[in-house]
Amino acid sequence: MEIRAERSEDISAVHKVNVAAFERENEADLVDRLRGLADTFSFVAVEVDRIVGHIFYSPVKIEGKCADKLFVLGLAPLAVLPDHQRKGIGALLIQHSLEACAQLGCKAVVVLGHPEYYPKFGFVPAKEKGLRCEYTVPDEVFMVLELESDALKQCSGTIKYRSEFGEV
Ligand SMILES: CC(C)(COP(=O)(O)OP(=O)(O)OC[C@H]1O[C@@H](n2cnc3c(N)ncnc32)[C@H](O)[C@@H]1OP(=O)(O)O)[C@@H](O)C(=O)NCCC(=O)NCCS
Repeated sequence: MEIRAERSEDISAVHKVNVAAFERENEADLVDRLRGLADTFSFVAVEVDRIVGHIFYSPVKIEGKCADKLFVLGLAPLAVLPDHQRKGIGALLIQHSLEACAQLGCKAVVVLGHPEYYPKFGFVPAKEKGLRCEYTVPDEVFMVLELESDALKQCSGTIKYRSEFGEV
């Protein structure tokens, strides 16, 4: 299993992975709209030349109290082909891409997702770090991971995703 940055020739396969995993077009269309915008990052899991998983990051803003230029990303979506799930591919995608994000200068990552899954990778409820989600969701599903210790120490407020997320 290889985890690598998405290439232009992967775009159609990435769309299909998202449609298959989410059983709808919304997340796949979201990725197609966000791809190429500043500070977006896309990684794929490749098994013998076939794309079986995908993870995407886009920039978020903290509305509230925080250093002006703190580089925070939102992880979404994460998708693995249904017949390849529960084999550790999601975990590999998360671990490799988080390392890449840290190397790119990202200080923290937020995610809106399964509260049993993301804590395995160090995510904690964002509320513990003084951060709220702009959408009305249970506290435990909105999580954050600091990629640099105490990166969020001086921060509090509401995390705002790019407007394209509002249409999903
Ligand atoms: C979530 C997802 C990306 C995980 O990928 P994966 O390759 O199956 O994950 P891993 O093999 O690394 O980890 C499997 C573990 O994830 C957890 N997990 C997987 N799907 C889960 C779900 N829907 N809810 C809660 N936990 C889940 C389980 O604890 C599982 O462990 P187990 O096999 O011991 O029960 C994949 O199931 C998927 O594409 N789901 C549909 C799309 C989706 O929901 N994306 C996430 C949005 S936040």
